Amino acid sequence: MSDGKQYTAGIIGCGRMANLHAEAYTIVPDTQVVAAADIDPDKLDLFCERWSVPQRYRSYEEMLAQADLDIVSVVTLDNLHGPATIAAAEAGARGVFCEKPMAFDLEEADRMIAACDRAGAKLVVDHSMRFEKNFIEVKAMIERGDIGNLRTIRANMLSTDQRDPGSWHSQYVTAGGGELMHNGTHLTDLIRFYAGDPEWVFATVERGNKAVTIEDLGAGLFRMDSGCLFFFESGGRRRYGTFEILIEGDEGRLAIQHGARN
Ligand SMILES: NC(=O)c1ccc[n+]([C@@H]2O[C@H](COP(=O)([O-])OP(=O)(O)OC[C@H]3O[C@@H](n4cnc5c(N)ncnc54)[C@H](O)[C@@H]3O)[C@@H](O)[C@H]2O)c1
Repeated sequence: MSDGKQYTAGIIGCGRMANLHAEAYTIVPDTQVVAAADIDPDKLDLFCERWSVPQRYRSYEEMLAQADLDIVSVVTLDNLHGPATIAAAEAGARGVFCEKPMAFDLEEADRMIAACDRAGAKLVVDHSMRFEKNFIEVKAMIERGDIGNLRTIRANMLSTDQRDPGSWHSQYVTAGGGELMHNGTHLTDLIRFYAGDPEWVFATVERGNKAVTIEDLGAGLFRMDSGCLFFFESGGRRRYGTFEILIEGDEGRLAIQHGARN
C-alpha cells in the first residue's frame, strides 16, 4: 500500500497475537488501528491502552456495524475465524487478515473465500513464514537453481503433548485441532511456497493425551506436482522442541533450523 491513503484497521480478539498485529500496523505508515473488540473487558482495555486504540467494543459484530474499517484482523479463538472473516467481508472491509489455522475444515474455508470474493475483499491468512526475509531468500535460492531440481523436503516442528486442559488451545471445539492445525499448517504452507501444490497426500493424526481433545501428532507424506516428495511431522510427543527443514535438490541441500526466523 503506498497510494497515500490512510487505511483504518480493526482487531477482533485482543490477546497475545493481537499485539503482533497492532505492532505491524504501527510499522506500516499508511495503516492505523482505530478499533478493537474483545469479550474480555480487561484484555480489551489493556490492549487499547497499550496501542492507543480509540474505539473499544465488547462485541465484534458491534464493531463491524459501527466502525469504518478498511482492514480487519481476525485474532480470536480458531472457531471464530470463519464467522468473523465472513462478517468482516460482509460489513465492507476491503481486506481481512485472518490468523491461522484458517478454518476447521475445507467447507468453512470455501465459505470464507466465497464471502470475500463476493464482497471484493482481499483475504490473507497469517502463514507468516512466507513473508519472512530468510524464508524468502531460501525460495530465491531454490528458484535460482542453487541446489538443482528439488527432490525431497523433510520438515519437523516437534513439541510436547503436555497441555493445559483448561486452555482453549487444548480443546477441539475452540481450537479445531492441535499440532497438525497449528504448527503443521505452517510447514505445509511453507512447503507449498517452495514446491507448489500437492498431487496426493498420505497422512495421519494421533491423540495420545486423553485430557485434551486435540491431536498431539500430525505426520504426512506428500507428492508435490513438481515431483518433489515432502515428509513432515508436527508435535510428536517429545520432551524437546525442534524446528528443522531439510531441502534436498539433485545438486545440493539446504538446511533450515532454529534461528531461521531471526
Ligand atoms: N501465525 C502464528 O504463527 C500464530 C501464532 C500463535 C497463535 N496464532 C493464532 O492466533 C489466534 C489468537 O491466539 P492467541 O494466542 O492470541 O490467543 P489468546 O487467547 O491470547 O487471544 C484470543 C483473544 O480472543 C478473545 N475472544 C474470545 N472470544 C471472542 C469474541 N467472540 N470476540 C472477540 N474476542 C474474543 C479472547 O478474550 C482473547 O483475548 C489463534 O487463532 C491462534 O491459532 C497464530
